[in-house]
Amino acid sequence: MENGNLTKSFFHGGDYFPEQWLNYPDILKKDFELISKAKMNTVTVGMFAWGCLEPEEGNYSFDWLDDIFERVESINGNIILATPSAARPAWMAQKYPEVLRVNENRQKCLFGGRHNHCFTSSVYREKVQKINRRLAQRYGNRKSLLMWHVSNEYGGECHCELCQNAFRHWLQKKYKTLKDLNNAWWGNFWSHQYSDWSQIESPSSIGESMNHGLNLDWKRFVTEQTIDFYRCEIEPLREITPNIPITTNFMAREEDMLPYEGLDYQKFAKYVDVVSWDCYPTWHCKNETTAELASKVGFMDDLFRSMKQKPFFIMESTPSLVNWRSVNKAKRPGMHVLTSLQHIAHGSNSNMYFQIRQSRGGAEKFHGSVLRNDNRTDTRVFKDVQQVGHIQEVMRSLTTTFRKSEIAIIYDFENNWAINDAQAFSKNRKEYAATVQEHYRVFWNRDLPVDVISVEADLREYRLVIVPMLYMMSATTLQRFIEYVNAGGVIVSTYLSGLVDKNDLTHMGIWPEDMKRLFGVELLENDTYYPGESNEILYDNRIFKTKDYQSVIDLITAKSLGTYGKDFYAKSTAVSGNRLGKGRAYFIGARTDGDFLDAFYGNLCVDLNLNQAFIIEGDNEVSVQSRNTKSDTYYFVMNFSESEKTIYTKYPSRDIVNNENCGVKIVLKPYEVKVLHVESIDINK
Ligand code: GAL
Repeated sequence: MENGNLTKSFFHGGDYFPEQWLNYPDILKKDFELISKAKMNTVTVGMFAWGCLEPEEGNYSFDWLDDIFERVESINGNIILATPSAARPAWMAQKYPEVLRVNENRQKCLFGGRHNHCFTSSVYREKVQKINRRLAQRYGNRKSLLMWHVSNEYGGECHCELCQNAFRHWLQKKYKTLKDLNNAWWGNFWSHQYSDWSQIESPSSIGESMNHGLNLDWKRFVTEQTIDFYRCEIEPLREITPNIPITTNFMAREEDMLPYEGLDYQKFAKYVDVVSWDCYPTWHCKNETTAELASKVGFMDDLFRSMKQKPFFIMESTPSLVNWRSVNKAKRPGMHVLTSLQHIAHGSNSNMYFQIRQSRGGAEKFHGSVLRNDNRTDTRVFKDVQQVGHIQEVMRSLTTTFRKSEIAIIYDFENNWAINDAQAFSKNRKEYAATVQEHYRVFWNRDLPVDVISVEADLREYRLVIVPMLYMMSATTLQRFIEYVNAGGVIVSTYLSGLVDKNDLTHMGIWPEDMKRLFGVELLENDTYYPGESNEILYDNRIFKTKDYQSVIDLITAKSLGTYGKDFYAKSTAVSGNRLGKGRAYFIGARTDGDFLDAFYGNLCVDLNLNQAFIIEGDNEVSVQSRNTKSDTYYFVMNFSESEKTIYTKYPSRDIVNNENCGVKIVLKPYEVKVLHVESIDINK
């Protein structure tokens, strides 16, 4: 569903927990004065408030929330109303224990924490629908209601009997017969064939944990059951408020800024109106440079944006620090504005925070917040937030802009599960997601926009499609790649690709015939090195180091573009290029460092004429990303380094944030960001 409201402004605000302050009327009053002062226009309420909304079964209490709607409307603000299913009251857990989860060791969880609910329980589903219906009936017509925020960060699994039965039904629907299931799961191995559906149990470390087919199907089921629960949650919302868009907040693996692994978000995204995600990078940590981390954040933004090819929301970020890491360092001056604008540059229409007001108690009382409980507004954090609000207001006209990419990189959630489960290769150095991010980094360095897409996405719009380490490649996916290349597309794949089918079964040869046809090579062996060992690739008159993986290949129709320098496959092909139909398919046989990727893709960019139209001399630590209208481009120029940087543009421009003219030489202070617009020349012509 489309909702024009979502482009009426950029949204700025965050999670707000008035239920923690019901005994402090002065605080509630002050909140809205300060929310306006901080230039925030949106609050997300209700996500963990079930205990205050329904203190006793069937006994609802909405007065406090009515009051919040009044207050938000008095400042012309927006409400993103959360459904409360992510945390439930104790009375419910006590009376209906089935709502609580059972862990993989088959232990029943006690009441406590949050996100601790069974997705299958019909009691829980009924309770959730009841309260959601009440919320929709009561607030559905409020002018401030911008969007539904369903639950919070869905994730985790439940292994109770209800879930086991649901899993068995799901399998029955998928395979129809046990014979087909046993074949797909290679059941005769270790006598793991099933003779009755009831014998099947979810994976567990005290039972079956090494049947790849079972593991993969369980993960698929967990995603589908979570979506099923979500769809049950939203039924009353769709019925009563058909025009209010719906989202649920997705996550990243916050410790290393890789995609979250618990759910297949590309599948889930089909069922939300707006993709939103929670972003907490570990800035200012010596493990990686600021630019390295910024490139990963850019990747995650592009992954989430590409799920619907529409503006997304940053639903949570911290205005300063978090409290749940082993070391909780605050953002240094400049970083908050920089990272907030980075999200907008990659297509976000919001910057929302966890949290607006700091809690006094509970696990998150030391988490960063916009408002401190002494209500001071002369703090560094408050001023940073104000500045983001100000810039978002200035850039208001950009909310309907979009991003255009001619380059796509495929990231596949199922592939990540499958390759991580494989008992092979270098067990702790598979690094699928990190590898996809490394390929992305080459284009980030070159300031070329990239879409991060699923295996199902339409490839026709792209000039270049990159498919690193797609270990699990279904026959359909392979067919789609062949069609794309035949029609003129250019594809690049790498080592450890095409080794298993959609059931995680190997092929009757190392590669299926279509893989050989596409790349014009035959894969003879996958060689794995110990950490520290390396080979060489001779490519383009240079020598590049390889590590971890080398594919030993034979040419069929492809040409050799690079050869190995050492080992028993010295002089054989390490990098190949194949013409197929009107297009080309390249295969990079070994894992390398960024220098090879840069040289390889650099040549391809020249070949395909993929250029940055605005920057003539950039810098690997300055990221330039753009948002477009049909006729105009806005360039976000962001210095992700601790030193001053100079870049050169083709044309003079205007910095729309600071309202000043810029020449072709742009000097950026550490962490500085400018949003540039070329006013007199249409460079797209
Ligand atoms: C998120 C969560 C929020 C809050 C935040 C703290 O993962 O959705 O409710 O706990 O982390 O950083």
